[in-house]
Parts: sequence; C-alpha cells; structure tokens
Amino acid sequence: MKGVEMEMRPGKVIVDAETICRRVEALGGEVTAVYDGSPVMLLGVLDGSIVFIADLIRQLRMPLEIALVKVSTYGGSTSPVAQLCIGPADLPECRGRNILVVDDIYDSGATLGAVCDAVAGKGARSVRACAFLEKDCPHKRLVTLDFVGFKVPDLFVVGYGLDYAGKYRNLPHIAALEGYDEGPARA
Ligand code: IMP
Ligand code: MG
Repeated sequence: MKGVEMEMRPGKVIVDAETICRRVEALGGEVTAVYDGSPVMLLGVLDGSIVFIADLIRQLRMPLEIALVKVSTYGGSTSPVAQLCIGPADLPECRGRNILVVDDIYDSGATLGAVCDAVAGKGARSVRACAFLEKDCPHKRLVTLDFVGFKVPDLFVVGYGLDYAGKYRNLPHIAALEGYDEGPARA
C-alpha cells in the first residue's frame, strides 16, 4: 500500500500583477532619485531576477549598463542546500563603478551578501542591494537592503521570476507554494 502523494503548486495570490506593476514603477523612481544621474551597472542575480530586472530597468533614468551573475543556493527544493561561492571571474569589471545588485528575493541574505562582498572586493565605487521581495523570516540577516519591492510572509513563493524546481517563473503574480493532496500514489 503506497502513501498519499503531495504535489506542490501555486496557491494563494500574495501580490497580484497590477500591484507589482505599480510598485516596480515607484521603485524605479526611488532608485533613480538615489543615484541622481550617476552612471550605474545593474548586476542581476540569475535566474530568479530576470522578470523583475526586465521591468525595473525600463523605469530607471540614468546611464545604465547591465550584467548578470549566476548564483544558486536551492537545488530543486524549498530549503538552501549549500554555501555560496562567487569567484571574481564570474563578475563584470567593477572597479570605480556604482554597482546595483538585484535579486528576486531576500531570504537569509546569503546570496545578496555574497554577491555584494565579491563586488566590493573587485573595487566597486559603491555597492547597493535591491530585492524584489523581502521575506519576513527569523534568520540572521547578512546584508542591508537599500531597495525593496514588497515584504512578504515567511512562505515559499513562486511567480514573477521565482521558481520551485524550475517551474512557475512565468506567473505574472506572486503566489504561495502549497501542497495538494493528490490521492494515493500509483505504482
Ligand atoms: P538567500 O540567499 O537565503 O537570501 O536566498 C535567496 C535566494 O534563494 C533567491 O535568489 C532565490 O533564488 C531563492 N529563494 C529564497 N526563497 C525563495 C522563495 O520563497 N521562492 C523561490 N526562491 C526562493
Ligand atoms: Mg535566485
């Protein structure tokens, strides 16, 4: 006799698409004001930040370059699997530049912390951190965020670039990942 199978799927909507659109527009204004016309290199953390970056950059009004860095802590699960390590070769030329590191979500802060440290180590003129979502979690925080889209509860969320096991990045809203009882497992 097999047990009951749980399938994880997007459930309750946490932030709807229209609210996201309005907030990203306002956030673009906040970022533009802080840099006050100075040139910026936006460094996006792959893969989760792609949707956010695509929307955010069209709201930024300063000389802007874009670079991407691949960092991953979650191996197809909902909890971190390994410590991060980012080598200087993974990063663009940072010396003397204003770097804005952008990620999809700030959970423990390990990802943004590691990227910001690596960028600072390469001689950036300034380093700021931006996350589309900030999770309200009890972990120790490793970096201070300069810009945040939304604060969300301590749940695993998907959509607007965020995935679960590679899926659901294409949802236009943010949803909580929920377990659904799929009935008895088949042989
Ligand atoms: P941190 O390093 O603990 O801050 O985790 C940040 C990284 O973990 C993000 O870049 C995401 O890729 C991933 N992550 C953390 N929480 C979630 C979530 O709720 N949904 C999807 N990805 C998440
Ligand atoms: Mg990520």
